[in-house]
Amino acid sequence: MKTIVQKIDNNKIDTKIINSAGEIIKNGGLVAFPTETVYGLGADALSEEACIKIYAAKGRPSDNPLIVHIADIEALYKIAAEIPKKAIDLADRFWPGPLTMIFKKTELVPLGTTGGLDSVAVRMPDNKIALELIRAGGGYIAAPSANTSGRPSPTKAEHVYEDMNGRIDMIIDGGMVGIGIESTIVDMSTEIPIILRPGFINKEMLEDVIGKTDIDKAVLGTNDNNLRPKAPGMKYKHYAPRAELTIVEGEASKVIETINSLVKDKVNSGKNIGIIATDETRECYIKGVVKSIGTRSDEQSISHNLYDILREFDTENVDYIYSESFSCGKMGVAIMNRLLKAAGHKVIYAE
Ligand code: TXA
Ligand code: MG
Repeated sequence: MKTIVQKIDNNKIDTKIINSAGEIIKNGGLVAFPTETVYGLGADALSEEACIKIYAAKGRPSDNPLIVHIADIEALYKIAAEIPKKAIDLADRFWPGPLTMIFKKTELVPLGTTGGLDSVAVRMPDNKIALELIRAGGGYIAAPSANTSGRPSPTKAEHVYEDMNGRIDMIIDGGMVGIGIESTIVDMSTEIPIILRPGFINKEMLEDVIGKTDIDKAVLGTNDNNLRPKAPGMKYKHYAPRAELTIVEGEASKVIETINSLVKDKVNSGKNIGIIATDETRECYIKGVVKSIGTRSDEQSISHNLYDILREFDTENVDYIYSESFSCGKMGVAIMNRLLKAAGHKVIYAE
């Protein structure tokens, strides 16, 4: 299959391209598109045959449900059977935006979209290209992240191309995404809503609107195999870079000291080392391939670059990667959730 790549300027959307992409979706094809979080791989959410193609293109296990993307609130009432007031309050505050909510599904949504579950995950993305495409494609687009299963989510069209060229009909290139990690997922079907995947919208921001909210313990950075995540996708082994990744935690100066001494040992034994630093610390490392992930004064610069830096390190000839830790801030839980998975939970405390 030939994959067409079409560039669109977010500020001057070419409706001809959107309409042709919408036609592909309506005809059961696959179109990758930007959202504010990561690139999505879209198909008609109401067509089981179209959604089967998503699973095939990604190599995704068929029990891992897809998120249905909508462009207006009326669409929610067609696909969700029980919508609590708390969900409406959250939608009012955060949609369009990086929040996915889970509800009991209606008959309209095929089981092929929801991985056989009787619930459906719904989100309204905050990206003009995505919203226009959803409208042009019939109003309901199922879209997982547009990576091969097990690779980091794509934050630019080039990443999608790497993984999906020849497997899908079209890639809409809308430039690099803003947030860079996937949406917060909240299960709204219980009395006290539960966060199943942390993201840009954190627990405090949710509680500010709806009061007490729980977080699924399985996503809090533990490596306890007895905890089974409630979002099926969170249980799968996630991306691990080719090189062995270790996170070094602790006070900044100690972290630098520890990484420098680990790097020295490894370099002396003939190994190549990568370091994930920040703008503030990149000059402090003496050896190794040092890459800055962003600045600690702007947390979003870190989430924005995380997946890109992990993909970049796969093309460098390094054997080990040491990363600073990014536990604090509004998005710390979400960033560390992704980084810990990539590191297979290998953490060193710098003392
Ligand atoms: O930011 C995002 O959410 C991106 C963009 C493209 O919108 N999408 C995304 O989709 O991250 P995906 O498929 O990579 O991750 C969806 C997650 C999976 O962990 C899946 O198991 C969970 O959502 N999920 C979907 N439907 C669910 C349901 N009904 N119940 C529980 N978990 C569900
Ligand atoms: Mg994904």
